[in-house]
Amino acid sequence: MVARVRHTIEVSDAAALAAAAAERVIARIDDNPDRIAICLTGGSSPKQLYELLGKEPYRAQIPWDRVHWFIGDDRFVKADDPLNNMNMARQIFLDRCAPATNIHPITTESASPDEAARLYEEKLKGFYGADALDPAKPLFDLVLLGVGPDGHVASLFPGYPAVDVTDRWVVGVPEAHVAPFVPRVSLTLPTLASCREMLFELSGADKRPILTRILAGEDLPANRARATDGETIWLCDSAALPENFHG
Ligand code: 6PG
Repeated sequence: MVARVRHTIEVSDAAALAAAAAERVIARIDDNPDRIAICLTGGSSPKQLYELLGKEPYRAQIPWDRVHWFIGDDRFVKADDPLNNMNMARQIFLDRCAPATNIHPITTESASPDEAARLYEEKLKGFYGADALDPAKPLFDLVLLGVGPDGHVASLFPGYPAVDVTDRWVVGVPEAHVAPFVPRVSLTLPTLASCREMLFELSGADKRPILTRILAGEDLPANRARATDGETIWLCDSAALPENFHG
């Protein structure tokens, strides 16, 4: 496998995209007979996927006892706030399907985003069993990501110092660049990159302007996010892809 190469896969629409993503989640799970770590994402893009994972035929294919669920970023709001990313995933499928001990939210009840970042970094390091990421031993089996209208991933916004942080696993982001304008906590690019697969989901015509810029190679966080030594897959529906995508 050639690392850091991005593969773009086109599907017809949002429903096909969620089904293709669910198949990839199951394939990653099937690939690992041991403990599995999946890093979820927020926003609206993954909601259909989460609904699928919580119902048949997918639900029965997931060995819930050995899958651990993390989150790539969260909004610094209460755990049960509708804006909270992990809350969204819990409501849609995790609370019904996963053992509570396998759900690993960012603790937003901490004193500050920086403190929440410190605690989540500690949790990730404890789970991983080391303080430094080894490219031969990815932290996550799968990292799910969406892309914001400004090209951000997780809560790593273009031009923000957090994008360039390499000596922290998780950072506090005091101000968001796009709505909702609440402080954030985000995994850094090297942490997100420590995975067997990084899977983006982009659906709908609203994503076309930013996807056009990304595919043109603009220096945006979304273009910098690549699995260090795994696959990077962009699942896009036809409405999201630029008209000239096929040349
Ligand atoms: C967040 C997200 C963020 C999101 C993108 C895409 O907390 O807002 O994790 O990075 O994935 O903004 O959002 P949509 O899926 O809603 O377009």
